[in-house]
Amino acid sequence: MSVVKLISQNFRNLDGAPINFHPKLNFFIGDNGSGKSSLLEALFFLGHGKSFRTNKVDSLVCHGTKKFVVSIKDNNDRQLGLSRDICSGLTNIKIDGQRYSRLSVLAKNIAIQIVTPESFKLFFGGPKERRRFIDLGMFHVKHDFSNLWKNFNRVLKQRNACIRLANANRNENNKSMLSYWTEQFCQLSLEVSTLRALYVSEIIFELNCWLAILLPSINERVTVQYLQGWPQKNTLSDVLATNQDRETSFGYSLYGAHKFDVKFLLDKKSIETQLSRGQQKLFLLALTFAQVSFIARVKLVKPILLIDDIGAELDVISRTALSNAIEQLDCQVIITAIEPSVLQPFLDTNDDRKFSMFHVKHGKISEKYPDDSELNKSEKAM
Ligand SMILES: Nc1ncnc2c1ncn2[C@@H]1O[C@H](COP(=O)(O)OP(=O)(O)OP(=O)(O)O)[C@@H](O)[C@H]1O
Ligand SMILES: [Mg+2]
Repeated sequence: MSVVKLISQNFRNLDGAPINFHPKLNFFIGDNGSGKSSLLEALFFLGHGKSFRTNKVDSLVCHGTKKFVVSIKDNNDRQLGLSRDICSGLTNIKIDGQRYSRLSVLAKNIAIQIVTPESFKLFFGGPKERRRFIDLGMFHVKHDFSNLWKNFNRVLKQRNACIRLANANRNENNKSMLSYWTEQFCQLSLEVSTLRALYVSEIIFELNCWLAILLPSINERVTVQYLQGWPQKNTLSDVLATNQDRETSFGYSLYGAHKFDVKFLLDKKSIETQLSRGQQKLFLLALTFAQVSFIARVKLVKPILLIDDIGAELDVISRTALSNAIEQLDCQVIITAIEPSVLQPFLDTNDDRKFSMFHVKHGKISEKYPDDSELNKSEKAM
C-alpha cells in the first residue's frame, strides 16, 4: 500500500493541513525542531499504535490540547484513523468507518518500517531491539505467528508465576504445576523457534541482495547466527532441569524462545566491532530493505519505509548507494533531511515526476519544487 493523504490534528507541533504524498518517493526538508520526525511519528503511530521515540503517548498531544487525531487515505481509497484522548486515556481506531479498540488491528492493515539516526545504536546495542525487529517481520509474513506468540507469552507468564511460587513454597502441588507449565513452555518454545529459524534464513537470503548494493565490499564476508534462546545441542527441557535452582533464585524463565537473538558477524567477529558508524547504518538499512522486500513479496501488501534524517552518518557515496537501493525497492519511501544538499544523489537519478518534495517549517508543511541553485549552492559549500 501507499499513503495518498495524511491529515492530523493536534499531533505534536504539526499544523494539521492535509499532505498529499507521492506514491514512490517523498522528501521532507526542514531545520532542527521544524517537525520532520513528528510527521514520521504520526505515520508510524498509525502502523504500530505507538511512537518510535517515546512510551508516553500523551506527550504526542500538542501542548495545551487534550486529543490528537491522525488519519490517512491509502491508494485503495481506504481510510485509517486513530485518535488519543488524554482525559479519558482512550485510543480509538477507525478503519473505513468501522471502530476498533485493539491496537493490533493496525498492524494487520498497514506495515510501516523506520530507520532513524538512533536505530543502528539500538539494534547493535543489545538483543531487545533485534528481537523486536525480527518478530515484527514474523508477525507480517507468518500467519500462525501472532496466535502462537500470544499463547507462548501466556504460558511464559504462568511458568514465571509458578517459579516464584516454588521459590516461596516448595510443596508437591507447586512442583507439579511448574512441571505442567514447563512442558507446555518447551513445546511452544520449539514451535516458535522453528518458525523463527525459517524466517531468519529467508531474510539472510534477501539481505545478501541488498548488501550487494549498499555495502558490496563486505557482502561475501558476512555470516548470520540464529541463537534460539537455549544451547543448540541440548533440549530445552534438559536445560531447564539443569538450571532449576538458578531459575528459582532469579524468579523467572532464563531460557526459552523469548531469549532468542540474531548475531551478525563480519569475518566471524561482531559487526558492531568491525564496521564504522556509517557502515553500521548501511548494514541496518540493508537488513530493513531485506525485511521490507520480503514482506512485500509474501504478504503482497507493500510496506512503507520511513527514513529519518538521511544525512546523518552517511557520506555522498553511501547516499548514492542508498538512492540505487531505493530505486530497486518497489515501495513507498518517506525521507527527512535537514539540508537539501544531502538529497543531491537521489535527485540525480529521479526527474521531478518521480518524487515529491516538501518544506517543513514550524510544523507547517508545504510542497515545493527542488530549487537547483539552493541544491548546488549548499553542495558546493560542503
Ligand atoms: N506535544 C507537543 N506539542 C507541541 N510541540 C511539540 C510537542 N512535542 C514536541 N514539540 C515540538 O515540536 C517540534 C518538532 O520536533 P521534531 O522532533 O519533529 O523536529 P525535527 O524537525 O525532527 O528536528 P531535528 O532536525 O532536530 O530532528 C520541536 O520544536 C518540539 O519542541
Ligand atoms: Mg528529527
